[in-house]
Amino acid sequence: MTTTARRVHLVARPTGLPDDSTWSVRETELAPPAEGQVLVRTTHLSLDPAMRGWLNDVRSYVPPVGVGEVMRAFGVGTVLESRHDGITVGDTVTGTLGAADHAVLPGDQLTVVDLAVAPATTWLGALGMPGMTAWFGLFDVARARPGDTVLVSGAAGAVGSVVGQLAKAHGCRVIGIAGGPEKTRWLTEELGFDAAIDYREGSLHRAVRAVAPEGVDVYFDNVGGETLDAALRVLRRGARIAICGAISTYNATEPAPGPAHYMSLLVNRASMAGFLVFDYEDRYTEAVEGISAMLRAGTLTAREHVVSGGVDAFGDTLLMLFSGGNTGKLVLELSA
Ligand SMILES: NC(=O)c1ccc[n+]([C@@H]2O[C@H](COP(=O)([O-])OP(=O)(O)OC[C@H]3O[C@@H](n4cnc5c(N)ncnc54)[C@H](OP(=O)(O)O)[C@@H]3O)[C@@H](O)[C@H]2O)c1
Repeated sequence: MTTTARRVHLVARPTGLPDDSTWSVRETELAPPAEGQVLVRTTHLSLDPAMRGWLNDVRSYVPPVGVGEVMRAFGVGTVLESRHDGITVGDTVTGTLGAADHAVLPGDQLTVVDLAVAPATTWLGALGMPGMTAWFGLFDVARARPGDTVLVSGAAGAVGSVVGQLAKAHGCRVIGIAGGPEKTRWLTEELGFDAAIDYREGSLHRAVRAVAPEGVDVYFDNVGGETLDAALRVLRRGARIAICGAISTYNATEPAPGPAHYMSLLVNRASMAGFLVFDYEDRYTEAVEGISAMLRAGTLTAREHVVSGGVDAFGDTLLMLFSGGNTGKLVLELSA
């Protein structure tokens, strides 16, 4: 028997922010799974800033999504049919399911997840790719040590909120940067950040100096642009900057200018390194164990911002990432 899937196709590469002309939702009949494949009903789609980069026809760490193709997306779903050993009907799986409500995929590209450990949405957030990014970015790339002052931008988002909480649990002093008073209040009052700065209010480097007069040992950069430049001005000697992302530049139509204050790296004998979470794939278990232990102990809050709708809501939901509409991990829950 075939299954009708509703899928989001990329139909035009955007200049600047994606809009309605970027996407087309189409129905297609999926053939039953072949040997080794499974049929999945996607229950939750992950919205990720990286998606914007996947729309550009440039060389990157993965090929761009082709015009006409189904949009690449991580998701969680329920297995409806299985011809793969080790995956059973009714299992919950995660992987690159694509922006669609159903998919037929090779079982060996999927991971079975345990909903007794955490709900499906958390497997896309703190226990998913963003949580892995926070863990390896903070501990491996930025080499955070107890006693360090850690500054993180995009602090109320999926990656940033986990970075700050991991750093606190590690014995660091944590300063978050986020947009608006509700987010900064959440960081200090509920997540235990030592300070939080609303980057929309006044001079950012002065605000950081006011709460960290000695400067910062680690800057975890999710935002890039002017925020990175401000962070360069407040480094301590031997500081480490982890370049995780640069969301402030993703929809720019001109190349973003380089950081004006980069010589601070020399003055402070500091280092700045970019990283990609997928390079740590063979170590994900380490991070999943560490983060799930904290979830069990109640020492880490996993927050997801769940939008309900069909796949038709994909395009508008994605835009929330660029307007700051989300607090925590942004997820689109697909109605059955
Ligand atoms: N290197 C890797 O392997 C890897 C893996 C995953 C994610 N990332 C990167 O990590 C970063 C965070 O991703 P995420 O999934 O956790 O997203 P997120 O932080 O949950 O959502 C994006 C947030 O970025 C902020 N933002 C948007 N435009 C901005 C601007 N112009 N200036 C300042 N802040 C802006 C908004 O928060 P405010 O309201 O605070 O502005 C928004 O809520 C992104 O740069 C992403 O590309 C990298």
